[in-house]
Amino acid sequence: MINIIKVNSEQQFNETGAGIIASLLQSNPRAILGLATGGTPVGVYQKLVELYREGVVSFKQASSYNLDEYVGLPENHPESYRRFMNEKLFDHIDIPIENTHVPSGNSEKAAEEYTRLLEKAGQIDLQLLGVGHNGHIGFNEPNENLHGPTHIVELDELTRQANARYFSSIEEVPTHAVTMGIGTILQAKQILLMAKGADKAEIVAKALKGPITTQCPASLLQTHANVVVVLDQAAGGLL
Ligand code: GLP
Repeated sequence: MINIIKVNSEQQFNETGAGIIASLLQSNPRAILGLATGGTPVGVYQKLVELYREGVVSFKQASSYNLDEYVGLPENHPESYRRFMNEKLFDHIDIPIENTHVPSGNSEKAAEEYTRLLEKAGQIDLQLLGVGHNGHIGFNEPNENLHGPTHIVELDELTRQANARYFSSIEEVPTHAVTMGIGTILQAKQILLMAKGADKAEIVAKALKGPITTQCPASLLQTHANVVVVLDQAAGGLL
């Protein structure tokens, strides 16, 4: 079931996302969080840091598993997702850093190890997701077949172009990434999909109301029992 929440401002967008994560942690301090990178969750993480500083929420017993990582960037590269997570969230809250996990794309073996780690951890309580303009979630790009477990993917040209804004040139954007597979994503107890901006309106409508197809990986969320979608007015404009 998909429950859509449309908000009226950037502030509400971030508060709503952070509020859902914070109330989970209040009821289950040991929650396993599936986390995402990209521009969409940055304000949500800022809000979570504020809530932590106000004493509203603690991450002391929580653990986290990130969706994806570039292949070929060292962990301390300014654009690595490990560094993103440390800088935007982990360095500012009380989560033990050893409880935080970001996949490594250094080899197929490392990807398999992440799958095993996730299996050992058990079910993710809440998986936060953004969506790419082509419907990718994590880095699961449109394809004839989608993979269940964590695996290495070749990035679409469109994805590399979208992410080139973070690098000094498109040539520097890695060609490959490692991503949690659709199977693992769909196993989460609850999924929180967030999107903002008019450029996401078309893909959001396709994903939530269009046919369920591997050519739009986000459309597979329609098969999940518990999805909350938070949209600003622009991203929800075609619904
Ligand atoms: C990125 C990430 C995804 C993210 C998506 C949208 O490349 N791999 O996890 O959800 O693309 O990014 P943004 O939030 O910047 O629009």
